[in-house]
Amino acid sequence: MREALFTRRIGLKMQLLVITFLFTFSSYAFIVNNLSTDVSVGVMTIAAQGKGGGKSVKKAAAAKVQKSDDSRPYDRIDPEFRNIGPGFGGKNAVPFWIALVVFLLAMGGVVKGKSKPVKGISGVVALAALGVVAYVTYWEARSLGRQQGYAPVQPIWFSHKVHVTQNKIDCEYCHVDVRSSRNAGIPSLNVCLNCHSVVNKGKRSGTKEISKIYDYLGYNPKTKQFDKPGKPIEWIKVHNLPDHVYFNHAQHVQAGKVDCQECHGPVEKMNRVVEYKELSMKFCLDCHRSRNIITDNQYYALYKFHLKPGEKPKVKDIGGQDCSACHY
Ligand code: HEC
Ligand code: HEC
Ligand code: HEC
Ligand code: HEC
Ligand code: HEC
Repeated sequence: MREALFTRRIGLKMQLLVITFLFTFSSYAFIVNNLSTDVSVGVMTIAAQGKGGGKSVKKAAAAKVQKSDDSRPYDRIDPEFRNIGPGFGGKNAVPFWIALVVFLLAMGGVVKGKSKPVKGISGVVALAALGVVAYVTYWEARSLGRQQGYAPVQPIWFSHKVHVTQNKIDCEYCHVDVRSSRNAGIPSLNVCLNCHSVVNKGKRSGTKEISKIYDYLGYNPKTKQFDKPGKPIEWIKVHNLPDHVYFNHAQHVQAGKVDCQECHGPVEKMNRVVEYKELSMKFCLDCHRSRNIITDNQYYALYKFHLKPGEKPKVKDIGGQDCSACHY
């Protein structure tokens, strides 16, 4: 019985079957994952440009067209942030396509090879290529549902590079709640007006973008009165944890003294905000396992009392690894 099942002929056919199945399945996963964003963006753009494009489609397309928007030539994802995360342009695309071609050629060798050594070597090469494909697929599949590299076009082109790096504005001037609350908060447009009631022109966008601030607020820059009807601005949220995760900024920025950049990357260099890190559970836990807590605030006054001399507790020691700390 055992021998009958594993004769050479059946073995080879079975191997081919399994390999082809694995290969098709993994290519499928890769392509679905990437196409689902890339193609849907394309389709939505075409739909929005054509007459059939409804308002909601247009809006969705405007939010999703990530790489360019011709009406705003200055609004581009900066080159250094373009290939973050999965996708055809992502860091795994090149190895994937090379492995795919190598795999197909090697399979040709396995099937059509004239001698045993040729078949054997082709087989080894095919397996190695398959390994690469499998690895890429694993990586791509892991990022399903996450949004590393996500960089939607915002209603007003707001550049952190212009404001933070060139004009030296502190993060907390705008994200005022970051030390005291769960949410960092997005500034209201009145905050922009603190400066833009005077600065009404930008070097790259002229008056086009700054005048949108006035339109949203119903502000008349000539009379300096709010004498027109305004409308609420809808910034598109870039970072989104799933609803089942609890995250609190104050805990990290105020108590933990963690820099914004550790989780958001170099925002100060971005003309358009990009989700820089893969906000996975591993990302949170890696830090909680290695980071010492800072015990010089009142909250730890009593806790410190119980520590042995020289003992440096990590976040995991105060419950930073408990499921219920982050999930509810
Ligand atoms: C002059 C005001 C201003 C300053 C200063 C500023 N920001 Fe922002 N920030 C905004 C506005 C407005 C948005 C929403 C539009 C956008 O996403 O580009 C935003 C968005 C963000 C987002 C994305 C939020 C989301 O939707 O997920 C992050 C992260 C962020 N800022 C971090 C920072 C950091 C870090 C600094 C300092 C290095 C900083 N910001 C300085 C105004 C500011
Ligand atoms: C430990 C990681 C971490 C640090 C440090 C951090 N953030 Fe965040 N930030 C996040 C996560 C995660 C989200 C998404 C939250 C969600 O979806 O619930 C977020 C969301 C935001 C948002 C979107 C609005 C909101 O509150 O959800 C802004 C703006 C922001 N962060 C700014 C900042 C600024 C400014 C700093 C530094 C002063 C900072 N963050 C520090 C992880 C961090
Ligand atoms: C503390 C002052 C200050 C605040 C607050 C501020 N800005 Fe600015 N903003 C500036 C300065 C200075 C410039 C640079 C003008 C230039 O290009 O010379 C600028 C430029 C701009 C530009 C044009 C950039 C270009 O190169 O064309 C836009 C658009 C803009 N800001 C939007 C906003 C928005 C939206 C907010 C509120 C979320 C805001 N600003 C808040 C000071 C500020
Ligand atoms: C770069 C390091 C770092 C990262 C990344 C990070 N944290 Fe934390 N976290 C800390 C520190 C430090 C503390 C302890 C703050 C204190 O002293 O209370 C903390 C505390 C917490 C606590 C409170 C734990 C407790 O029992 O008191 C929660 C909940 C939490 N983090 C959630 C998250 C989530 C969710 C993420 C991922 C999206 C995340 N953290 C990513 C550093 C980090
Ligand atoms: C420090 C914060 C933190 C702790 C502690 C934590 N998680 Fe998570 N968990 C997260 C984040 C963030 C995500 C969302 C990841 C994503 O979007 O891919 C997540 C996602 C999940 C998911 C959904 C699967 C997925 O990939 O989206 C499950 C299930 C889960 N966690 C179970 C647990 C269990 C069980 C524990 C305790 C052993 C635990 N978590 C502890 C932060 C945490």
